[in-house]
Formats: sequence, structure tokens, C-alpha cells
Amino acid sequence: MKPRHLLTLADWTSEEILAVLDLADRVKARPDDFATRLARKTLLMLFEKPSLRTRLSFEAGMTQLGGHAIYYSTQGSNIGGKETIEDTAKTAGRLVDAIMARLYSHETLEKIAANAGVPVVNGLTDYSHPCQILADLLTIREKKKRLAGLSLAYLGDSKNNVTHSLLFGCAKTGMSISVGCPAGPEYEPLPEVLSLARAAAKKSGARVVVTHDPGEAVSGADVVYTDSWMSYHVPKDQEAARVAILKPYQVDSGKMKKAAPGAIFMNCLPAARGYEQTAEVIDGPQSVVFDEAENRLHAQKALLLVLLGRDRD
Ligand code: CP
Ligand code: NVA
Repeated sequence: MKPRHLLTLADWTSEEILAVLDLADRVKARPDDFATRLARKTLLMLFEKPSLRTRLSFEAGMTQLGGHAIYYSTQGSNIGGKETIEDTAKTAGRLVDAIMARLYSHETLEKIAANAGVPVVNGLTDYSHPCQILADLLTIREKKKRLAGLSLAYLGDSKNNVTHSLLFGCAKTGMSISVGCPAGPEYEPLPEVLSLARAAAKKSGARVVVTHDPGEAVSGADVVYTDSWMSYHVPKDQEAARVAILKPYQVDSGKMKKAAPGAIFMNCLPAARGYEQTAEVIDGPQSVVFDEAENRLHAQKALLLVLLGRDRD
């Protein structure tokens, strides 16, 4: 039987996404009930890029489920050099029960999934970051008691893994999403992502909007979300030019006032105060960024249980 993967939320139905969230609620409420579910199971965690939350939440999650996680940095390894990615995946699949990988290229992740023979989880590629958005949906549902019918505004760099996954996650769960970003292919979501998200939104009754007017994007939103202007894959020498172009999309208290009363502020972190949002917003009462970070743990524990077929008693 072919293993189930999570490479992008575009591949998952809304029912499958909601089932992970429901299980995550149970795992969060009663962690002891799941303490031995992944006994003797091993997760390989492959990293080409840095991480705090992804590494800690997967590693702690495996410990809490009775399993074990191996941290493997590709720096100084043979991957893609002396050893092909296919051979690496085939070897790993003989030795571990699942693989989580944080990579530059999404195609490399797809190659791992095609060859490993065990479930593969996207821990972030340049294209998407589905685990983050599972945690975000869990957080939004905790705070707002529903997903369908809400509206989320995303401001900032939108040719971006987090924006892409938000587009899929919102559209599939019936949340409208309004993306506010500079014009041009450098900053807008990929057209293929928009067309997949629009097709999903048509089914769920949500709306997908891209605007270059940040005020229009946040107007009446229940959730205001932003992400780094300098994603891990963006070269440092582009910083000054990007900051100048993205500055009008900074989430500040003026923009939060345009959102719905009681709107929450989210950032997947790492965050830079004074850049994608002001300190006043991220450190203010509407910010839920650390609940979001914690929910990585609960959402991913549920995801691993589903992928390893250990979600039922
Ligand atoms: N949000 C997130 O994925 O954080 P890390 O880069 O620290 O893993
Ligand atoms: N867009 C960001 C997300 C970090 C979790 C990046 O790729 O660096």
C-alpha cells in the first residue's frame, strides 16, 4: 500500500484537514491518552534550512507519543552530492517509520515522497508550509469557535510558502482570504496556487481576493496575518529593496483598527519587530503568536498519528 504524505494542503480534502484538527483538540486536551501511541516508531527530521519551532515541536511531539525523532542536518552530508536524493530516501525508508523534511525545493520533497515508502511530511519548502497552517487553523478555531464564514487578511510578501498554504487552508475550510501585497510576480502568490485555491473556495463558499491596497485587505477581517519579509530562502542582499517595497504592508495599530472588532493577529514566527509588524501589534492584546507556536505541537502530533495509522483507539 502506498503511504500517505502531507506535501501540500492542496492534496488534502477539507474533511481530512478537519479530522486532523479534531484529533489535535483531543491530543491537546488529554495528552496522556496518546503517550504510547507511537512506541518504537522513529521520525527522521531532515533540515536544509534553520528552524526553532519545527524542530522543537516535531521532536517533542515524538517524545510525547512514545516514539523517537532523529535530527539530521543536510549540511556536511552527502545528500544531492555523493548520494542522490532518491538513494537517500530509499535508505531512510528502510530505517525509519516517517520522514519530515524542511527543504528549499518542493521538487526534492516530492522525490523523497516518491522513493521513501514511508509517510513524508513537508516541514517547509519554498513553495508551502502545510504544518504551520494546520496549527494556525487549530488556533483560529480555538479563538473564534469556527472557521467557515470567517475572513482572514494576509499582508506582506505573498509569493511565499505560508501565504500559499494559507490560501489552500482557508479556501478548503470555508474561510475567506484577502491577500494584500505589492504588485508583480516577485510578491504575489503563484498563479497556480491562486487557481487551486479559487477552485476550493468555490466548493466551500469562501472568497479569495488579491489586492494591492493593504487597507482594503484588512477591512473587517477576523484574523490579520503576516510573515517575514526575508524568508529563509531570500538572499540577504535583497533586504533593503524588499523593505522599501513591503513597508506599506506592515501590520500596525492603524491597520488592526480597520479589522473586525476582536480580530486576532497572527505571525508564524520568526518575527522581526519594526518590519512585517510593529512591536505594539505583536506584543499587544490581539496577538496570539505564541498560542500559534504551541499549536504546532498538538497539530503535528495529530498529523503523525493519522499518517502512521494510529489515530484510532
Ligand atoms: N514557523 C516556523 O516554521 O518556525 P521555524 O522556522 O522556527 O521552524
Ligand atoms: N516564509 C517563512 C516562514 C518561516 C517559518 C520562510 O520561509 O522563512
